[in-house]
Amino acid sequence: MKKKIGIITSGGDSPGMNAILFSIFNFCFLNNIKCIGFKYGFSGLIKNKKKKIYKKDINNIIGLGGTILGAGRSNLFYTKKGRAKAYINILKNNLYGLIIIGGNGTFKGVKIFSKEYKNIPIIGIPGTIDNDINGTDLTIGYDTSNNTIIKTINKIQDTAISNNRIFIIEVMGKKTGFLALNSGLSLGALYIIYKSKYNLKKIIQNIEKKKSNIIIVAENENIGDFSKEIFNKLKKKSKKYDFRLNILGHLQRGGSPTCLDRILALRLGLESIKKLKNFKKNLVIGIKNNKIKYIPFKKAILKKKISKNLIKLYKFFYY
Ligand code: F6P
Repeated sequence: MKKKIGIITSGGDSPGMNAILFSIFNFCFLNNIKCIGFKYGFSGLIKNKKKKIYKKDINNIIGLGGTILGAGRSNLFYTKKGRAKAYINILKNNLYGLIIIGGNGTFKGVKIFSKEYKNIPIIGIPGTIDNDINGTDLTIGYDTSNNTIIKTINKIQDTAISNNRIFIIEVMGKKTGFLALNSGLSLGALYIIYKSKYNLKKIIQNIEKKKSNIIIVAENENIGDFSKEIFNKLKKKSKKYDFRLNILGHLQRGGSPTCLDRILALRLGLESIKKLKNFKKNLVIGIKNNKIKYIPFKKAILKKKISKNLIKLYKFFYY
């Protein structure tokens, strides 16, 4: 292995990305591996914008939200020209391989790149609040986000109960529904809409049972659209309730990672650099039943199913 690798935190940032960097950079410093961070996701690699990380830079970052490298989605990386630029900069910087931290969108791009440029070994780490990487039970940042959502909605619940209102609250997680279902169940929500299909009659029936003042809605395609649609329909259908709409937004992505996310970040971070050092490539490092799993890119980007146990819980409380 030429002892120089590149690291990218891609897509939306997630709590725990810094803990991953802490793990990888510590290993590199101890083993004399040179490691370059690229700024703001793949755009940093395409534009050759680098961030040199010194030992002092990684002190105290385990508990820091966001990513010291910066994150971002790069439309250019989805073009052949953009990927060619990325490849040229890998060669220019004399990199042996890359470690990429991100979610489903990131690994879709990485899969294409790894087919085009087979000589560049890449190891992926699931870092996203969406939990949308297939083959791993958890992604880094997901647990923190769930806990942030619960804590925030508990506060909304106080005012909702006091004013006898029903709040429709949209949570992130794109179309996956993981954050919606988990946070909704653990809040004892009035109803949870975690898929794009829903039954208005059933929602109203649950409102009549009045066991809580909160309805959780998964964001689906675009932030705000889906929850607004449900809010408007409910307002029209049921005039006797005072409905309010609340879109939680980006606060769900910030904050200090939970203990679970930090430990996961340290484990997967260390495993990623060890695998790259041992000439492994084109794998996402995940976790299943607390054991490390190696997931090929093409499997990691498939639609991840929600566990049967969670669906069972949902059916018990909401059917
Ligand atoms: O992928 C993480 C995520 O937070 C999603 O849950 C959300 O849909 C999206 O990013 C928001 O992206 P942006 O920060 O680009 O608006």
